[in-house]
Amino acid sequence: MMIPFKKGAALLAPMVGITNRAFRTLIDELGAPDWYWTEMASAEAFVAKARYEESYTDAGPCPQKTSIQLFARSSEAVAQACRLLAERTPNERPAGVDLNFGCSAPNIRRMGAGSALSSDPDKAAAFVEAARTTWPWTLSAKLRMGEMGDYSELLSFCMRLCNAGVDFLTIHPRLDSQKFRRKPHWDIIGALSRDLPVPVVGNGDITSPELFKSILDQEHPYALMIGREAVRRPWIFTLLPRRSEQSEQSEQSEQSELSEPSKVTGDVDIDLRAVGLRFIELASQCLPAAFQLESARRFFSYFCDNVSFAQYLKVKLSRTSTLTEMARDFRSYFDEVPTDLIVKPENRSDLDSLPS
Ligand SMILES: Cc1cc2nc3c(=O)[nH]c(=O)nc-3n(C[C@H](O)[C@H](O)[C@H](O)COP(=O)(O)O)c2cc1C
Repeated sequence: MMIPFKKGAALLAPMVGITNRAFRTLIDELGAPDWYWTEMASAEAFVAKARYEESYTDAGPCPQKTSIQLFARSSEAVAQACRLLAERTPNERPAGVDLNFGCSAPNIRRMGAGSALSSDPDKAAAFVEAARTTWPWTLSAKLRMGEMGDYSELLSFCMRLCNAGVDFLTIHPRLDSQKFRRKPHWDIIGALSRDLPVPVVGNGDITSPELFKSILDQEHPYALMIGREAVRRPWIFTLLPRRSEQSEQSEQSEQSELSEPSKVTGDVDIDLRAVGLRFIELASQCLPAAFQLESARRFFSYFCDNVSFAQYLKVKLSRTSTLTEMARDFRSYFDEVPTDLIVKPENRSDLDSLPS
């Protein structure tokens, strides 16, 4: 199976309550990544046609470069969910399915799904094999480093997934229990990229074009995935260097040889008020009413980091009870602090340091 994005690609991470159709549309409008993930959806609930599952598994606006992420308790549900996705019309069918072996939320682990599978390689491999029986297109899995961080165990787990049929793997190199504490172990991405027979996508704490390039150059993952920073700066994909066509053709090239960003917006100022209000509009258009407010709250809990009085604005927006009130309060913030209205897309005062 061909990997559907180029070496050095920049990908949007799956994030519950955030990477729904509304957010992916905003990202697409501001400067698209090379591939999208949906938020994770329960295979069992999707198969049972539970309420809202069509929304969780909506692959729009770019189904041809979107993977739907599934978490599951049983391989039967994985196979059935993949069959239902495969039977969709080409316009609605996602281009990929991704299996979640990394979520360590207690409710997901308790049901034996997400990162609970990282200590059960037989079951995880059975999920991949089950998906392969009904899903002929791109198939991937996303995981952390496991419970203990033992490299040979992690490698052997990943090898099982490769042998079972994944096309690529995404690694967020932290322990299952670590949440977002400590720095990610980027060297593990480098080691797995060397040792595995499939491409490895690296993920974790990428907050700037410099860091993006530095990890590609030092660890040589096939591609990198960005999560939270894409919510803070939904235009970030326009700032990232992409691999040049020339180095794409060079078989010998081990270096990523990145070109300048394909769509340069570095000189175009960002109107924060317009971006925030556009998200609210998209939430009201693209999401079921029950999700709109919560999704907007989650979005603004990151997006407000762009303004001087971030905490003040987050609290204010979290207290609103309709999208209309939220839009009103968000708009009025810029009347109070007009100097916050416009930002340079590349500006972030609190960028992480480069990996040593
Ligand atoms: C709010 C939130 C929701 C998340 N939901 C998912 C999910 O549904 N599936 C998944 O595999 N990872 C999920 N993650 C993890 C991200 O995909 C990513 O691995 C993690 O945030 C590290 O990347 P980052 O530092 O670029 O954000 C979530 C992370 C956050 C912050």
